[in-house]
Amino acid sequence: MKPLAVLTLLAFPCLAADLTGSWVAQRQGPGGRVMETQLNFKQEGSTFTGSMLSSMGEQKILNGKIDGETFSFEVVQNMMGQERRVKWEGKVDGEQLKLTMNLPAMGPGGPPPGGGAVGPGPAPGGGFRGMREMTARRGESEAIKKELAAEAKRPKPVLPDRKILPPNGLAKTPPMGWNSWNKFHANISDKLIREVADALASSGLRDAGYVYLTIDDGWIAGRDENGRPKPNDRFPDMKGLGDYIHSKGLKFGIYSSPGSRTCQQLEGSLGYEAMDAKVYASWGIDYLKYDWCGAARTFTVDQQAIVYQMMAELLRATGRPILYSISQYGQGSVLEWASGIGANMWRTTGDIRDTYESMTTIGFGQSGKEKFSGPGHWNDPDMLEIGNGGLNPDESRTHMSLWAILAAPLIAGNDVRSMDKDTIDVLTNRDVLAVSQDPLGKQGYRLQQNGDIDIWVRPLKGGEWAVGLFNRGRAAVPAKVAWQALGLKGKPKVRDLWAHAEVESAVDGYTATVPAHGVALLRIRP
Ligand code: GAL
Repeated sequence: MKPLAVLTLLAFPCLAADLTGSWVAQRQGPGGRVMETQLNFKQEGSTFTGSMLSSMGEQKILNGKIDGETFSFEVVQNMMGQERRVKWEGKVDGEQLKLTMNLPAMGPGGPPPGGGAVGPGPAPGGGFRGMREMTARRGESEAIKKELAAEAKRPKPVLPDRKILPPNGLAKTPPMGWNSWNKFHANISDKLIREVADALASSGLRDAGYVYLTIDDGWIAGRDENGRPKPNDRFPDMKGLGDYIHSKGLKFGIYSSPGSRTCQQLEGSLGYEAMDAKVYASWGIDYLKYDWCGAARTFTVDQQAIVYQMMAELLRATGRPILYSISQYGQGSVLEWASGIGANMWRTTGDIRDTYESMTTIGFGQSGKEKFSGPGHWNDPDMLEIGNGGLNPDESRTHMSLWAILAAPLIAGNDVRSMDKDTIDVLTNRDVLAVSQDPLGKQGYRLQQNGDIDIWVRPLKGGEWAVGLFNRGRAAVPAKVAWQALGLKGKPKVRDLWAHAEVESAVDGYTATVPAHGVALLRIRP
């Protein structure tokens, strides 16, 4: 203790509590694992400083204040590419500290429920995401000490020189498939994935084009003594699983992070990139989702392009065609570099949630990004929530129509083993899929917005157009697209892609009554 602190304590003996020292708090992390946080405090009078050690690395204690038995402080964490200020409140309770961590809300998407170090908890619309309570006792965390030592010993990759990679020939149209995250989070197993493979085949989804079956976060246990990625015991045989997926006429996707940890705090690829690429290829992997998350501990946003390029080169070096899907939530200038470093698709936002608000905030926020997208390289506004229960049928049609107009990858995220007919119909509407998979490969854009009516258009092969008349309001209203706005002379043919019918239009345009939160999706043939 500094002499000043001793003096302060002597001068103000009524400030009974002294936080100075190390404290360890335990809480339930992703997948029910016990996770520890170590707090190192140094109190001087009514303020204190120090550091917080957790699986997210080391953070500084900011604004530490103590008044009698109650205290508060803040830490700034980098969570999925967003800086967030986490407020802590506490009370000295005998030999223990009772702590409350207050989590702020994240961007339009923010991390999913159960995601990352945030753990489960509702994400209300407001500025606040939830609270976590825990108790801390004096001491140091052996678990964190071990983790930080392992982290320091981890091999560091040698980053290659920046270059422009030629296209890998994959994803000529927006990729289609299924991914385990939106519905199952980390509760996944070999059995589930095989059942999903069966269901993709029997439901007609595979034949409609949903061929990439991707296991998201939650499959890895760690590494074996040779550094090879070791799946957890719910995935006893990855090569066998890959063979099964392939036998169903599907392709096999997997998930990792360029950091030491995934968003679920599981083993990432940092320092083992070449090994992982080789092992994935030996398992028959056809698709890699490479998710930034824990990489924020090691690299800056400016290093993302080179870090992602490194894995693109390693995947190519395996000789196996592997679709490369990168996920860094749209940070920095990713739109400008993603295609050049060999990505076939890149996330443009934080995580989608299963609400109309989240889906439309993301979807209607994509205008202006269209020039970066095209055959082989696509903007990815995140996976589909259709069939997960949070969207009504009109909202589901809005989701599907908007993603088709955006030329977005169509990665279903629902329980395909038990879909109702409406969900299947929405996901497999051939007319809408023809828009999504149009060979011209041009992403659509906003044509007009007027009150609740948002009109989006996508140029299609042969001078045709897809037009979406979206109603973002709570009551049905008429919406009109004028031929003139599309540069069309004369009356074109119009097909309503949800009614599956050719419809009559007027000489100057087409008007539809669009239900609340719904859409009229049209194909226009001049
Ligand atoms: C997030 C990512 C999600 C999902 C999740 C897994 O960072 O955006 O799509 O992959 O991690 O923990």
